[in-house]
Amino acid sequence: MCGIVGIVGTEPVAGRLLDALKRLEYRGYDSAGIATIHEGVMDRRRAAGKICNLEHCLDASPLKGTTGMGHTRWATHGVPNETNAHPHFVGAISIVHNGIIENFSELRRDLVADGACFETQTDTEVVAHLMARYREEGLEPKAAMLKLVGRLKGAYALAIMLKDHPGTMMAARSGPPLAVGHGKGEMFFGSDAIALAPFTDKITYLDDGDCAVISRDGVAIFDRAGTPVDRPRQVAQAGVSLIDKGNHRHFMEKEISEQPEAISHVLDRYIDFASGTVRTGNSAIDFGDVAGLAISACGTAFLAGSIGRYWFEQYAGLPVEIDVASEFRYRQIPMSRKQAAFFISQSGETADTLASLNYCRQRGLKIGAIVNVTDSTIARAADTVFPILAGPEIGVASTKAFTCQLTVLACLAIAAGKARGTIDAFQERALVGHLAEIPRIMSAVLNDIQAQTFALARQLTGCKSVLYIGRGTSYPLAMEGALKLKEISYIHAEGYAAGELKHGPIALIDEHMPVIVIAPHDQFFDKTVSNMQEAAARGGRIILITDEAGAKASPIIPAAQIVLPNVDEIIAPMIFALPVQMLAYHTAVIMGMDVDQPRNLAKSVTVE
Ligand code: F6R
Repeated sequence: MCGIVGIVGTEPVAGRLLDALKRLEYRGYDSAGIATIHEGVMDRRRAAGKICNLEHCLDASPLKGTTGMGHTRWATHGVPNETNAHPHFVGAISIVHNGIIENFSELRRDLVADGACFETQTDTEVVAHLMARYREEGLEPKAAMLKLVGRLKGAYALAIMLKDHPGTMMAARSGPPLAVGHGKGEMFFGSDAIALAPFTDKITYLDDGDCAVISRDGVAIFDRAGTPVDRPRQVAQAGVSLIDKGNHRHFMEKEISEQPEAISHVLDRYIDFASGTVRTGNSAIDFGDVAGLAISACGTAFLAGSIGRYWFEQYAGLPVEIDVASEFRYRQIPMSRKQAAFFISQSGETADTLASLNYCRQRGLKIGAIVNVTDSTIARAADTVFPILAGPEIGVASTKAFTCQLTVLACLAIAAGKARGTIDAFQERALVGHLAEIPRIMSAVLNDIQAQTFALARQLTGCKSVLYIGRGTSYPLAMEGALKLKEISYIHAEGYAAGELKHGPIALIDEHMPVIVIAPHDQFFDKTVSNMQEAAARGGRIILITDEAGAKASPIIPAAQIVLPNVDEIIAPMIFALPVQMLAYHTAVIMGMDVDQPRNLAKSVTVE
């Protein structure tokens, strides 16, 4: 989840490392640091908090040098202060690390027994001590590196700088991604192609278990046994420009507003409007021939998959096994090669999702990746990639990626239904017609509910806790509403299946508890309304999110309601996502929270 970057160049590197770190800040913003080598001296600047703090440090005390490394941290071991900020120095070694060294306590104990003095509470410092020790024992850099990776257990993307070899930098990868960038007379390491985009678009991704040494002339890559290996060089798709907020106050607001356009890109890709059919390209997954689906993802992407499950079951008659990736990967789920597996991830780098993918790969399932970043690790590991085409999502709270994931899943469910004969051409055309309406309806809704969601958000700001309920596809959406609210406003929130209310959570309800009821006028409406009445009878402050038909049919007048246009059930989750997102956004803004970079979170979660 940390971001790392390294440059072996011909021009001063500090400014460029700082730019790269700004592009990597989505991976963590607990602290940041830069180290360079200049005229035989290795020096560093580090600062707790966001990259701007490091920038002030560098302004006050610049760093010279044409070889250097940088790091932006999402703290795992050790509080996020300057001492624990990377790069870590031990002797002539400087190290930056993304990941978790699982056997660090044991390594640290041995090193301390051997006289090592530790400055930080991090797991990473053991790596610097080991490398320094192997060099002091007289091992050449490559031999020291191989001995080092032989000792480490866990997940790591490491870059290592040696004061006595200022023209080179070393790296190793086991788990989190690491890219090598090829420049003109300069070479780079980076956590991803986005970090390196201003410098080069020529990228080589290291494979798991690879080590690499860069110099100004190129890269040498070798495996754990030290045998040279070839990895392909590719042209990265990451854009150069640092994406800006335009006229918006926050990336999250911008990304919410971009949804109609993003979804029109998805529709262009997955729908043939002339024939009224869905198209899934050259997919390795033959829906007509699969016995069932396994879906795994984390957070918001998992909730998109949970909505998708209803569609695959309803439209294609396909059994779906779905779980959060951190459970899925360890559950030992019985699986057959006749199943296909889908992994949903905005970043395409989420460690647990990738591990679940590998689990299914080992069991011989065909793998589909529903991702935003199409040259990500998950995309590269899949048989077929289904891009969600949301464009860069910078706000940590996922918004447009969610609705684009939903739209891709809806298209895939229709394609599956067609292949399995559970949907005929007439039904397909009708469903496609509904999907085609999403951008227009979204634009209108975004306009209409602005003031209303703002006013409602004012009422949420003083709350300790908020309950979201729904049935059918509105149940995962209720969970998504709660997730959005808690992650950016820090108000406790829970999403529940409306029918589960009476099995426990109803005990929480009193006049201080807002209950947000997500209830389109669908087959579940009457039942959800009964649950709403149960909550109202206990004093719960009901906020009903429904459609025009639902507002008419509701037997009670809720404390507040948001009324959306009537839409077909297949697009209701995409449309109802909008008030859910905007409520969370406005609440957090009114409360003065850091909406785009909420505390303790990172956009890309590359540790388990
Ligand atoms: C919540 C959010 C997270 C991500 C989750 C998975 O707003 O963004 O819950 O959805 O960390 O990330 P990806 O989709 O990159 O695998």
